[in-house]
Amino acid sequence: MKGLLLSGGSGTRLRPLTHSGPKQLIPVANKPVLVYALEDLKRAGITDVAVILGLNGREQVIERIGDGTQYGVNVTYIDQGAPLGIAHAVACAEDFMGEAPFVVYLGDNILRHGITQLVADFDENKSDAVVALQRVSDPQRYGVAELDDGGHLIQLVEKPKVPKSDLALVGVYLFTRSIFDAIQKIEPSWRGELEITDAIQKLIDNGRVVKHHIIQGWWKDTGMPEDILEVNRLLLDDLTPVIYGTIEEGAVVKGRVSIGKSTVLRTGSVVYGPSIIGNNCTIDAGTYIGPYTSIGDDTHIAGAHIENSIVVGESFIACKKTIVESLIGDKTQIRSMDQKLPKGHRLIVGSGSSIGL
Ligand code: TTP
Repeated sequence: MKGLLLSGGSGTRLRPLTHSGPKQLIPVANKPVLVYALEDLKRAGITDVAVILGLNGREQVIERIGDGTQYGVNVTYIDQGAPLGIAHAVACAEDFMGEAPFVVYLGDNILRHGITQLVADFDENKSDAVVALQRVSDPQRYGVAELDDGGHLIQLVEKPKVPKSDLALVGVYLFTRSIFDAIQKIEPSWRGELEITDAIQKLIDNGRVVKHHIIQGWWKDTGMPEDILEVNRLLLDDLTPVIYGTIEEGAVVKGRVSIGKSTVLRTGSVVYGPSIIGNNCTIDAGTYIGPYTSIGDDTHIAGAHIENSIVVGESFIACKKTIVESLIGDKTQIRSMDQKLPKGHRLIVGSGSSIGL
């Protein structure tokens, strides 16, 4: 079995963060979303992986993932170009897949327990495709699967106003090569994209066997800032703390906290877990970090209070303010301007910004 990891798309809902890079490289708990997917593929025994590249940040993806060796997989890159839809992205990989069955993994999705069980249960001789599903409380936000009384999948509907079930489509699919014929037979949707749900519906309508698999554990699509922060919290809840850096006497570390190499927590700083601080960071006196905060490498924080947030990295934050539920892009500078502002700032800040609070 082969793998297809989708790293195209435009990521409009994550602007301005996606002005400077693809959303699949945004780190949660200090690791890019796409890397979790790659590791899941490897754990499921899939080592032949194609990565679909879009127009946004294609070089950054290649630079981060390389030939896949560091993740134990062989990566081949396929350019999709403009985001013409998930089914279009799949069609771009037809030559790469050849006769092999394959997993499609949306590069902005994270599954707590990965895809090992899903892949292990797949029998290409008994089904043409498998969709991964999970019960959700707000199905109108997702692609929704309708099952008949016998539990067979009969219909997939994108973001239905009146959902017929609470079974949302998770961003992982298993296909045989029959999907390529189905994609050729569909038309772009109202939003101008070739929809994978339409292609799967075509398989169902043509009498192909499309099964479903209800996944265990949480699953998240990181398409919006609040989703990214939620995944960050969920991952930090599972954090196994490791301390490499230096905690000076008089610095306070409480709960599960990971501290990277060459990082220094200065006397008078406080870090509450679950939180993670990357390599080469300086956390000065008067700084309070956490809970549920991830600070990326090469960041210097001098006196801010940061909770429930992600600081991507290479940033300098020197303000005596409280920053909450924020996503702060890399190479950002935040400094104090006015000491009388109200407490609590919520920031979604793109790469390379300079902000006065
Ligand atoms: P989406 O989140 O549906 O689309 P998007 O990335 O364009 O984001 P937005 O709606 O905010 O503009 O995409 C789901 C996943 O599929 C994501 O990892 C990107 C990937 N994708 C492609 O690789 N090619 C495509 O043509 C599309 C539409 C998505």
